[in-house]
Amino acid sequence: MSEPRPETLAKLTPVLTKRWLSPDAWQLGTYEKLDGYAALRKALKAHPDDLIQLIKDSGLRGRGGAGFPTGLKWGFIPQEPNGKPPARPHYLVVNADEGEPGTCKDLPLMTHDPHALVEGVIIASYAIRANRAYIYIRGEAVHAARRLRNAVREAYDKGYLGKNILRTGYDLELVVHSGAGAYICGEETALLDSLEGFRGQPRLRPPFPATHGLYASPTVVNNVGTIASVPYIVLGGADWWKTMGTEKSSGPMIYSLSGRIANPGQYECSMGITLRELLELAAGCSRGTI
Ligand SMILES: Cc1cc2nc3c(=O)[nH]c(=O)nc-3n(C[C@H](O)[C@H](O)[C@H](O)COP(=O)(O)O)c2cc1C
Repeated sequence: MSEPRPETLAKLTPVLTKRWLSPDAWQLGTYEKLDGYAALRKALKAHPDDLIQLIKDSGLRGRGGAGFPTGLKWGFIPQEPNGKPPARPHYLVVNADEGEPGTCKDLPLMTHDPHALVEGVIIASYAIRANRAYIYIRGEAVHAARRLRNAVREAYDKGYLGKNILRTGYDLELVVHSGAGAYICGEETALLDSLEGFRGQPRLRPPFPATHGLYASPTVVNNVGTIASVPYIVLGGADWWKTMGTEKSSGPMIYSLSGRIANPGQYECSMGITLRELLELAAGCSRGTI
């Protein structure tokens, strides 16, 4: 066990975790004092296509495991010409199942800073022209779900959700749905089956969720960390986001270190940090492990 060197400590990049140590950051009043919902006001003044382009330009990749480019995924949702309302409803579904053993980055985000996810949901839904969004959260995550539901209620009361959001004419309903704790329901098509009320089993593809997702309608499924990154990109811009990470994978990422190490926990660093550096941040392995 050894203390991290200053140059390794400097690799910590608190962006998504920046509010975690502020008392009551999970409450709307505190969130708003710390830049909360500023990105939403900015986003709702932009054209949805420009937001999709911004996310493409930022190089954001999905934080759920496969690293698929997020802007590209949003761009797959078929849009009607001339801005007409979509023939079938569009849906945004947030994957908050987080069942991978040892993984613990989405739950603390939803517990400490649930409004960041709610704000990201509203911006992403506006971009893909969805009027209904779901957050599918692991059934065992009772505390995080409680915080999330409280944040959603606060957002409705303040006019960030519901009809005519911030008097822009945009409507969005957001539902927090607790799953039953099956690991396979983290796979996006099994998750959609589960959300529809069936036993969660992966679907054959094609068709893909972009055209036939929830209730056979165009659907974007994104991880919690992906969607919570969106407000920061809207406020800071694509170029700022790309100052972090690698050429092909931009931005910061919350890494969770667990097991027999000295200081387990969440460490937010730019994409591309090495495992050696992460272990150094966590002060190495527990005594007697190696
Ligand atoms: C067996 C299995 C379990 C998965 N579990 C999760 C999960 O718990 N959370 C998650 O976000 N993605 C999980 N995924 C990935 C999702 O299928 C999907 O790629 C992801 O939610 C897309 O979001 P992203 O583009 O923002 O990363 C899992 C995939 C497989 C095959």
